[in-house]
Amino acid sequence: MKFLTIWSLLVSVAVGAHQTEDEYVVIGSGPGGGTLALGILYPRGSTVGGSSEVNGMNWALPPDNDWRYIASLTDDDSWRPEQMRRYFMELERNEYLPEGVPGHGYDGYIAVTGRPGVVKLVEEASRMIEGINISSTQELNDLLNRDMNRINTSRYEEQGVYRFPVHIDNLKRRSGARSRIADTLAAVDENGDPVYPLTLSTHSLASKVLFEHRPDRKPRAYGVEYLQGEALYSVDARYNPNQTATAQRVYASKEVIVAGGSFNTPQILKLSGIGPAEELQRLGIPVVVDLPAVGNNMRDNYEGGVVVQANVPFENNPFANCTYNLSNQSDPCLTQWKNDHTGPYGEGGAPLTMWYRSKQSQNNDSDIFFFGGASAVFRGYFTGYSREQVPPSTFYWSMVKMKPRNAAGTVELRSTDPREAPLIIFNYFEQGGDEDLAALAESATLALSIFNATGAPYTPYKVIEPTPGIPLEQALKDDMFSHHVSSTCRMDPKGDRNYCVDSRFRVNGVDNLRVVDASVFPIMMGGFPVGPTFIISRKAYHVITADHGCSLG
Ligand SMILES: Cc1cc2nc3c(=O)[nH]c(=O)nc-3n(C[C@H](O)[C@H](O)[C@H](O)COP(=O)(O)OP(=O)(O)OC[C@H]3O[C@@H](n4cnc5c(N)ncnc54)[C@H](O)[C@@H]3O)c2cc1C
Ligand SMILES: *[C@@H]1O[C@H](CO)[C@@H](O)[C@H](O)[C@H]1NC(C)=O
Ligand SMILES: *[C@@H]1O[C@H](CO)[C@@H](O)[C@H](O)[C@H]1NC(C)=O
Ligand SMILES: *[C@@H]1O[C@H](CO)[C@@H](O)[C@H](O)[C@H]1NC(C)=O
Ligand SMILES: *[C@@H]1O[C@H](CO)[C@@H](O)[C@H](O)[C@H]1NC(C)=O
Ligand SMILES: *[C@@H]1O[C@H](CO)[C@@H](O)[C@H](O)[C@H]1NC(C)=O
Ligand SMILES: *[C@@H]1O[C@H](CO)[C@@H](O)[C@H](O)[C@H]1NC(C)=O
Ligand SMILES: *[C@@H]1O[C@H](CO)[C@@H](O)[C@H](O)[C@H]1NC(C)=O
Ligand SMILES: *[C@@H]1O[C@H](CO)[C@@H](O)[C@H](O)[C@H]1NC(C)=O
Repeated sequence: MKFLTIWSLLVSVAVGAHQTEDEYVVIGSGPGGGTLALGILYPRGSTVGGSSEVNGMNWALPPDNDWRYIASLTDDDSWRPEQMRRYFMELERNEYLPEGVPGHGYDGYIAVTGRPGVVKLVEEASRMIEGINISSTQELNDLLNRDMNRINTSRYEEQGVYRFPVHIDNLKRRSGARSRIADTLAAVDENGDPVYPLTLSTHSLASKVLFEHRPDRKPRAYGVEYLQGEALYSVDARYNPNQTATAQRVYASKEVIVAGGSFNTPQILKLSGIGPAEELQRLGIPVVVDLPAVGNNMRDNYEGGVVVQANVPFENNPFANCTYNLSNQSDPCLTQWKNDHTGPYGEGGAPLTMWYRSKQSQNNDSDIFFFGGASAVFRGYFTGYSREQVPPSTFYWSMVKMKPRNAAGTVELRSTDPREAPLIIFNYFEQGGDEDLAALAESATLALSIFNATGAPYTPYKVIEPTPGIPLEQALKDDMFSHHVSSTCRMDPKGDRNYCVDSRFRVNGVDNLRVVDASVFPIMMGGFPVGPTFIISRKAYHVITADHGCSLG
């Protein structure tokens, strides 16, 4: 119970009671805003539970080689894949496999379910990628139910079709940090008193970490300053500059943990005096630690879309009658979900998944993570993207490039105002861009040849994306998007002056301050970061309680 006092600060920096998708970011260095033409919309979940409350809920373990890389980089064996799988098992409440399958968990707080997909296309995909001729429904079902998160260190070498698990519970509700916090706050003893000493402060924007300066010792974090007020952050869709904010402080009995995500963790650290000295001095922020790793080395998976329109509609579209309009009380899909938690609104958006190893893969693992579906489309983010209505003959594949080579992205302060969003520049393709684009082009060509092979009556197809008539790689580059940003406070070997956190999540150069979120990953973890981020939060729980000599609950 004692350890929860440590966590209360982490939780108290979550902002906003409403879910908004509100982060406008410019790719490259030109001017931009929230329109497709001027850049891309880069959503983040500004709410309790963060982006896992607005995300696609796809739950994929990264290749074991990614954990191995961190273990060897930091010389810390507790990051090896066998250890990390234990944390995964502690978190998972698997609801798609029979209980007892090795490598999975059944009692954790993140519920995970699965779903199958479109037959003919899967047959062709399996034939082309794996050389499998599907001869029976059973064989097809086996492929569609193949478990991508199974315990097998070389599983990313096996290309082909998989089931895509999602972090949804058996009542088809999102499962994650928000539900965990809500359950923790709701827990009461026999007298009706709260069981856990946890305080959640919403509408609270953390503005800086407070440090005590001590002679001959490292500065010590002892609290957090935050602004109280609704929708204070400048890119919140509800933002009003006239909204007043009250400065508040909270104090840590043990430690401060920052978990603002890969854009806001570096912002908070810099506002607190931890970052590249030159940038801080330019803004008049007193330097606590000169740490160039803060806000640098930003990475992201590239994501590209292949969208076609078939000759005839795809059959059995579960979303056929949905309006995607919460105010429309006659939406049959909404009624179904409200009545008994069934129906399409309880499903993930991407029923099909394939792994593919392009010629550009730097090891034996697949480096492209396809996900897709019929009668739907996903081509990145723009205002209203989630309501885009498409003909039932549409089919899309989204291609996620794993192990992207670029680490040239930056997050810089525009001012000392914590309400102002930082300047975020991805510098996509600056490092290894040609190889990564070649991998994506190869994969787009594969996706198109699968469509071709699917045959009549679906063919001929009309290609919508990548835009026909311009060179494939240019077309992919023009429409590239992502939502997996990481590494702006990367973990590195201790002793390297440039590391942001060590392998125990401790911020370089100060005491009692940790960072626990996707910003600490030194590389992109596979194709989907939310699972790995939850896994490291579990690891942090063990590391922090151990450092404080707490017994584990
Ligand atoms: C639309 C979308 C779809 C996605 N789909 C998938 C998917 O299907 N599978 C997958 O694996 N990943 C997906 N992702 C990515 C994944 O959700 C994120 O990588 C992951 O949630 C990152 O976790 P995090 O803890 O680092 O940051 P976040 O989840 O972004 O959490 C940061 C938290 O900090 C809070 N915060 C920030 N600044 C402050 C401040 N100054 N004061 C107080 N609080 C602050 C924010 O409100 C938020 O609650 C998706 C993301 C988005 C946006
Ligand atoms: C699959 O079928 C094709 C065409 O019928 C045939 O050429 C090929 O050899 C078969 N492959 C396997 C692995 O059976
Ligand atoms: C692990 O996966 C690889 C690649 O799919 C496969 O060849 C191997 O047999 C599997 N090993 C075990 C122990 O299941
Ligand atoms: C903010 O206040 C100013 C001055 O009162 C007013 O002119 C302006 O319309 C207000 N802005 C918003 C968005 O409410
Ligand atoms: C959509 O509505 C039509 C007409 O009522 C019905 O025939 C069809 O089965 C519905 N589709 C789904 C997926 O519910
Ligand atoms: C959603 O439904 C409401 C009520 O039926 C309606 O007024 C509104 O126009 C709809 N919105 C959209 C975007 O269709
Ligand atoms: C609400 O949804 C129903 C069922 O799909 C549809 O017939 C109706 O036009 C919708 N109303 C509005 C206002 O969008
Ligand atoms: C890749 O696989 C080949 C063939 O199985 C093997 O010889 C090689 O060592 C593997 N490479 C790596 C980096 O694991
Ligand atoms: C798909 O078929 C069309 C029409 O025959 C052809 O022009 C195109 O090159 C094919 N695409 C691929 C990737 O095979």
